[in-house]
Amino acid sequence: MSILALFWFSLVYIYLINTITLAQPNFVFERCGTSENYTIISPYTINLDATLSTLPTTNSGLGFFNFSTGEGNNAVNSIALCRGDFSPVTCSSCLNDSIVNIRKVCPDQNEAIGVYDFCLLHYSNNALLVYQEQEKEYFS
Ligand SMILES: *[C@@H]1O[C@H](CO)[C@@H](O)[C@H](O)[C@H]1NC(C)=O
Ligand SMILES: *[C@@H]1O[C@H](CO)[C@@H](O)[C@H](O)[C@H]1NC(C)=O
Ligand SMILES: *[C@@H]1O[C@H](CO)[C@@H](O)[C@H](O)[C@H]1NC(C)=O
Repeated sequence: MSILALFWFSLVYIYLINTITLAQPNFVFERCGTSENYTIISPYTINLDATLSTLPTTNSGLGFFNFSTGEGNNAVNSIALCRGDFSPVTCSSCLNDSIVNIRKVCPDQNEAIGVYDFCLLHYSNNALLVYQEQEKEYFS
């Protein structure tokens, strides 16, 4: 490969990496919990990573997602909802964006909510039972 080709290849590569990693739009609504925070090197981080990476695979079939890991104070509960009038691909892409963006918006809070036009993501170290009905209402 010539130096010039290598140069162009590098530019395209850098462009793609930036586009991919900076692709998440802002949430239309977001809220980070303030009552508890976690440190980056902690069981909570490990459980949050595991929870959010599995959450998108738990579609109930109706665009409702629910997944939890860990126990006690390190428990991470998460739910997501997609608006029913959009395709599974739109839903999946929206959830992927939420999962990346929520970590930037709320980098060390034990609870966070991020809402896009097409989907909603909520995680917490507390049980999310109470929120389900409220969120369904908010989102229907
Ligand atoms: C958690 O972090 C938020 C944002 O940095 C801060 O406002 C809040 O007071 C912290 N809460 C605790 C319990 O340390
Ligand atoms: C969302 O992320 C998962 C896991 O990385 C990937 O398999 C899937 O194709 C992504 N969905 C979209 C619509 O990009
Ligand atoms: C999520 O799943 C857990 C375990 O199956 C269940 O106990 C909980 O009620 C579910 N949460 C919601 C909000 O549906």
